[in-house]
Amino acid sequence: MGWLAWKDEYSVGVPGVDHEHRQLIELINQAITRFSDSDSDDAVGEMLEEIHAQVAAHFALEERYMQQQAYPRYAGHKDDHERLLEDIHDIMEDYETRQFYDQAAFAKRLHHWFGRHFSTWDSWWHEQEQSS
Ligand SMILES: [Fe+2]
Ligand SMILES: [Fe+2]
Repeated sequence: MGWLAWKDEYSVGVPGVDHEHRQLIELINQAITRFSDSDSDDAVGEMLEEIHAQVAAHFALEERYMQQQAYPRYAGHKDDHERLLEDIHDIMEDYETRQFYDQAAFAKRLHHWFGRHFSTWDSWWHEQEQSS
């Protein structure tokens, strides 16, 4: 499976945000490579928590910038962030209750979401910043 890789077209033109996007991609790729389906110790739970925390902190940063700019598509962008956080939360709960971690499904879900979000919500935001 190909991991999500940084592409220049993902750049939103805000250095702090781009930097965090690169870090998130790296964190997720590392986490996914490190744990396989057979791992059923606390480390998987900790990895999921760490990813959730870093993703949540990143979204909070973007949302702060968008609010400061009174960005008109703020609400839709924030909704999309919340969908992913809920997804990760569901995966964490699944892991806690069933001690089951499906590496391929997790990787696919996250990579799909980030690839789509970068090229839609984050890039729409970038385009309007460039034109303003
Ligand atoms: Fe982002
Ligand atoms: Fe975003």
